[in-house]
Amino acid sequence: MAEPVLGAAGLTRRFGGLTACDDVAIALRRGELHALLGPNGAGKSTLINLLSGDLRPSSGSIRFKGTEIAAMAPDRRSRLGIGRSYQKTNIFPAFTVFENARLAAQSRRPRPLALALDAARDPDSRRRAQRGLELAGLDEHVERQAGALSHGEQRQLEIAMVLATEPEVLLLDEPLAGMGAEESVRMVALLKRLSSEHAILLVEHDMDAVFALADVITVMVNGQVLESGPPAQIRASVDVQRAYLGQDGD
Ligand SMILES: Nc1ncnc2c1ncn2[C@@H]1O[C@H](COP(=O)(O)OP(=O)(O)OP(=O)(O)O)[C@@H](O)[C@H]1O
Ligand SMILES: [Mg+2]
Repeated sequence: MAEPVLGAAGLTRRFGGLTACDDVAIALRRGELHALLGPNGAGKSTLINLLSGDLRPSSGSIRFKGTEIAAMAPDRRSRLGIGRSYQKTNIFPAFTVFENARLAAQSRRPRPLALALDAARDPDSRRRAQRGLELAGLDEHVERQAGALSHGEQRQLEIAMVLATEPEVLLLDEPLAGMGAEESVRMVALLKRLSSEHAILLVEHDMDAVFALADVITVMVNGQVLESGPPAQIRASVDVQRAYLGQDGD
């Protein structure tokens, strides 16, 4: 099997007496869409925050292409090629769609602030921004104010902003949440396309989307990995059915 682009072992994060992420191992490979399932509070966002660097682990290892990065700051991880989106929409509503993507593209540059002051001289970031917006299907909306987009379009913009950093790894925390049916179908198609050339970790509650997309599924409960494997294994798992899938009769 291919080496993981991003892998974690023994990953643990405590908040006081609560262990939100408990001895978790996970491996993300290029060309694989890895879905992360689990009930509310299972530790899914915590795991994404640990992998992105927004949170530091209490213990454990995170490796990007063999290099230990568990103590590395999030901006450095982003520059390595680890991109993430947030569970709550995280855009600059007063800026245009294009400006949002361009600022994201610049954030991967070594001196983002200096460059932000002189955007016109940064054609590379403009190119990355344009490319991210095209991939995410927003190229017809570049001049609109981000705050005026529909909820689904704002989620697409978030993906465009991640893509504008040209990441190898995409950590996506519920990108389909709150989307209408049509928007959701478009996002699923986009994720499917992206998965061939990226390593993707997708947190998603929509089982139909997860089983349509995932190559590998990891199920977390109470901070721990309950089961991890191909979709057929997860579907057949009595533990998973009892702990999770059974809840909504799936
Ligand atoms: N910064 C924090 N401080 C204290 N507790 C936290 C913090 N972040 C998360 N937790 C707790 O850790 C546990 C896991 O939270 P997390 O957000 O990772 O769950 P989740 O699986 O993403 O849930 P959801 O499906 O609702 O998004 C929860 O009990 C949560 O209250
Ligand atoms: Mg969450």
